[in-house]
Amino acid sequence: MATYYREPSRTFSEYLLLPNLTTKDCTPDKIMLHTPMTKFTKGGLPALSLNIPFSSAVMQAVSDDRMAVALARSGGISFLFNSQPVEEQAAMVRRVKGYKSGFVVSQSNLTPDHTLRDVLALKAKTGHSTVAVTDDGTPNGKLLGIVTGRDYRTSRDPLHKRVGDFMTPFFKLVCGTSGLTLPDANDLIWEHKLNCLPIIDGQQRLQYLVFRKDYDQNKENPLELLDGNKSYVVGAGINTRDYTTRVPALVKAGVDVLVIDSSDGYSEWQRDTIAYVKSNFDVPIGAGNVVDREGFLYLVEAGADFIKVGIGGGSICITREQKGIGRGQASALIEVAQARDQYFEETGTYIPICSDGGIVHDYHITLALAMGADFVMMGRYFARFDESPTKKLKVGNNFVKEFWGEGSNRARNWQRYDSGGSDSLSFEEGVDSYVPYAGGLQENMEKTLSKIRSTMCNCGALAIDELQKKARITVVSGTSLIEGGAHDVMLKESAFSAE
Ligand code: IMP
Repeated sequence: MATYYREPSRTFSEYLLLPNLTTKDCTPDKIMLHTPMTKFTKGGLPALSLNIPFSSAVMQAVSDDRMAVALARSGGISFLFNSQPVEEQAAMVRRVKGYKSGFVVSQSNLTPDHTLRDVLALKAKTGHSTVAVTDDGTPNGKLLGIVTGRDYRTSRDPLHKRVGDFMTPFFKLVCGTSGLTLPDANDLIWEHKLNCLPIIDGQQRLQYLVFRKDYDQNKENPLELLDGNKSYVVGAGINTRDYTTRVPALVKAGVDVLVIDSSDGYSEWQRDTIAYVKSNFDVPIGAGNVVDREGFLYLVEAGADFIKVGIGGGSICITREQKGIGRGQASALIEVAQARDQYFEETGTYIPICSDGGIVHDYHITLALAMGADFVMMGRYFARFDESPTKKLKVGNNFVKEFWGEGSNRARNWQRYDSGGSDSLSFEEGVDSYVPYAGGLQENMEKTLSKIRSTMCNCGALAIDELQKKARITVVSGTSLIEGGAHDVMLKESAFSAE
């Protein structure tokens, strides 16, 4: 006979935290959100930690190199999507590892023989008003000049005017040389009242541009997640099919951590993939997803460095409808966290867990942490920001961004749903959708983080591990859910979003 669980499968929205005593020293500025990411033994330190407990989902619509840089700058980590050719994913890793904060590889470039018409067309296409002029029109060609809006008048100058005849020529430019630090570059910008400082090498070849408008962003972020060489930390997804070619390429490109991206991680395919990585490379690897104690312990024994929890809770996910498998995210997390704590007590080895999918409100993140997650993974949350790789569109009166599941026909990531059968997607497990556009990552995350810090103060916890020990959590009834929102009033239009 089948095994039946007494407790129903519950989601985050069915729980609330109860406040504990808030002592006077427990203020938001003192809350620490750093958290372990990979396993460690009692008294030791993990190989990797995060400065905030956020990771972005292994999805085409979420995690590319731009998102990875933005999130690492704020203290979290992205896992670059693996539903793309190995070389392209490795190139993304290289771009993140080679990224120098504030130093931008020039994206709008022409030669002196181009015309004003070409400048205007490029400006319309890229939105950049600064065009680098190089001998071969490439971002790293010999720098011959710069064109900005100050160099031409569209009302007077003919469209066929040669770039070489109106650009600001090299000898009039203030340039920095390779190796210049960001503070020094910013000093030059201020000293010479520049909008843009080109950085060149010994042969006058253009390396980067540093812009005045990025100054605020370029100031150091105390939570930045950096490796020993001061490059941003980045993760990458892998699958259980092509790992013998994908993993070597990612490791060569400098990836910091891997995760097996799968809707169901309780499989021998995952065990073999972990064994291959462990016996060939010295890079941490996470596995999943699981929803119970058995799945967790299986992957721990297989050697996983962290484990992801969650099946069927993702915003774009239709796995539960299509296949009838999964578990309410809160129930899954609570059981896995208990298994993790017990494993730690018995063996002295702590395995971080990541709650993946189903975060709808900011408070769900705090609940997930309180229930034992060391960090969360989010797709929808990040897809709404400027930094996600998808198009921003206007639908009706609202701006939206595209967001599609890895199991949708659009992504066709069949390896994620692989049960060892045919190498194609025979039915969809995800949808193609829009999410409301929300603006830039940094300002949105600051708001979310301040809510988390504030709730932690209510719970009298200065750090995530303290929250996990002290949290008091209650199930809410259907009726008290109604009580929790604004009720029995007529709402005026609010200037603030509901999130
Ligand atoms: P979200 O934060 O609720 O949007 O959930 C994101 C998570 O959904 C990802 O990290 C994946 O675990 C999962 N996911 C991504 N694509 C699909 C899909 O097509 N079907 C089911 N789950 C998906």
